[in-house]
Amino acid sequence: MKKVTKIGVLTSGGDSPGMNAAIRAVVRTGIYHQMEVFGIMRGYQGMIENDIIPMHSRSVANIIQRGGTILKTARSKQFMEPEGRKIAYENLKKHEIDGLVIIGGDGSFRGAQKFSNEFDIPCIGLPGTIDKDIAGTDFTIGFDTAVNTAIEAIDKIRDTADAHDRMFIIEVMGRDAGYIALHSGIATGAEHILIPETKTDIELVVESLIEKERRKKLVNMIVVAEGDEIGGANELSAVLKERIPMLDTRVCILGHIQRGGAPSCLDRVIASRLGYAAVEALIEGKHNQMIGVMNNKLHYTPLDKAVKAKQKVNAEWLKIVKILAS
Ligand code: F6P
Repeated sequence: MKKVTKIGVLTSGGDSPGMNAAIRAVVRTGIYHQMEVFGIMRGYQGMIENDIIPMHSRSVANIIQRGGTILKTARSKQFMEPEGRKIAYENLKKHEIDGLVIIGGDGSFRGAQKFSNEFDIPCIGLPGTIDKDIAGTDFTIGFDTAVNTAIEAIDKIRDTADAHDRMFIIEVMGRDAGYIALHSGIATGAEHILIPETKTDIELVVESLIEKERRKKLVNMIVVAEGDEIGGANELSAVLKERIPMLDTRVCILGHIQRGGAPSCLDRVIASRLGYAAVEALIEGKHNQMIGVMNNKLHYTPLDKAVKAKQKVNAEWLKIVKILAS
């Protein structure tokens, strides 16, 4: 097994709070081990365009508390093609980069897996997405911050909802996953939580809201993930306004506010642990793995498995939502 001496780090896909903390950990752990570390700008696109810069300890000073990513991020269409990956490989060779750390979501890992199959560059994936839709880890970098942003907003909305006796439909992010909706909904005492992982029975929602209206419970918070099959907050609001016109209903779409902001303590700590572990894994020859955290311990999932499986929603959590929202 060849010794890894020069590593590249990149962020790819949707950004998430804590990515900077992970970059910092990769750079400083690499330097601690006398490696040369390079930052690859704008994800795989920067690899193709040879936008690759040397990183030093001071390059990552004062970033642990910042949202976004100093390396910027992108979704590269070119990297999906074999020709794009070949150009990327040639650019890595120019810098003699012999190991990669990819911080991103499952799309980014799919790219890494293809790349490591085609070329002799070991890759380590770190789960960085607010959506938490990756198997093999209890947390993804950014999820905790995003959920806390959502609950802060939903708490504020409840104040005004309560003042006016209104129902609010709040749309949170999650194109394919309902974790932000599920966690933020439970944490704010939402009356209904609609997620893509479960079939939404609109009749049940309507019945339950009519029953609540009969007993003069007019303040209702419905949290819907953007990827729910109902279509999001506006679509749900149109149905509910028609079926239950006596409820005064408003919509709030939280949107990209959930992707920014200073990372929470949990995200900073997880990002630091994972960034450190990524470099250690490259040194120890644990190649082509995604590193996550399960039961508070580092957990290694081969990249090809990480791209296939999604996290499963715990059925008990759904039961909790029903019982507590009366
Ligand atoms: O980061 C994940 C995610 O937030 C999804 O929940 C959302 O659908 C998507 O990114 C939107 O990303 P963009 O606006 O960058 O296309």
